[in-house]
Amino acid sequence: MNGEQFRGKLKRLAMEPPFRLFVRRLINNKRTAASTRAYWDASPRPAYLLGLDFAVRQALREQKKAISALEFGVAGGNGLVVLEREAAAVSREFGVAISVFGFDNAGGLPEFIGDHRDHPDIWQPGDFPMDETALRARLDPATRLYLGNVTETVPRFLEDQSIPPIGFISFDLDLYSSTSDALAVLTSHQSRFLRHLPLVFDDVDHFWTNPLCGELLAIDEFNARSERVKIHPWRGLGDRPFPEASYLPKMYMAHDLPAVSQVTRNRSPVRLDLEH
Ligand SMILES: C[S@@+](CC[C@H](N)C(=O)[O-])C[C@H]1O[C@@H](n2cnc3c(N)ncnc32)[C@H](O)[C@@H]1O
Repeated sequence: MNGEQFRGKLKRLAMEPPFRLFVRRLINNKRTAASTRAYWDASPRPAYLLGLDFAVRQALREQKKAISALEFGVAGGNGLVVLEREAAAVSREFGVAISVFGFDNAGGLPEFIGDHRDHPDIWQPGDFPMDETALRARLDPATRLYLGNVTETVPRFLEDQSIPPIGFISFDLDLYSSTSDALAVLTSHQSRFLRHLPLVFDDVDHFWTNPLCGELLAIDEFNARSERVKIHPWRGLGDRPFPEASYLPKMYMAHDLPAVSQVTRNRSPVRLDLEH
């Protein structure tokens, strides 16, 4: 057995159920590389860390030195605080700058469109108000809040062409209507984002979830109307220490089809030689 095979066997062993909890506990500290924590779900928001880890790698593939990370739906700010902390960790490790943005109307959920699509059986207008003063006191001054309805703040965000291209988005607006409006961030002629863009949709995996309501409906309609960008569940996440993690079905990827078409590889051919 050569060194590489031995390391592979050791990694497999560490991922076995009896050992994996112990290993995660060992690496769950600030000194562990963010990429290692992303693989082991060692974060208060593993979905955010996984998205950011992919985003910086994709940014490097696209030769971009700076990206943006967006959270739609901030409420008290528990997610945004983790997003900026994990963005700083990933940025330090990969040398890609990450600007963090939070979008919220600050007054809690807005009025609903009036039928099943916004799930009035689950949510209520006014749910999740923000304490803006308390949140601003916790946030890094570089993190920017876009306060107001996303129908107004998304166009304002897109107008600022000094903002780096989007590398990661979390959608947690709860409502079909709000999610549909926020997805406009990917369809304007001013939109700039990575050609494979990791997304999190927080509300696609509850007992009430179905394709006729909420985020799933917003995604289906988006795919029907957008020719350039298609949103699809993030494939290939099975080979991980915790493949059953409940956040993994919430991970999606937006694919910019024309941008993918334009790529030409310029490297020596890949080989798959006969093994000994
Ligand atoms: C569940 S909370 C977000 C929780 C947060 N992501 C976290 O992890 O703690 C949903 C938020 O979406 C915001 N929201 C919903 N629709 C909106 C809209 N159309 N424009 C702006 N904010 C909206 C609400 O104000 C609410 O604070």
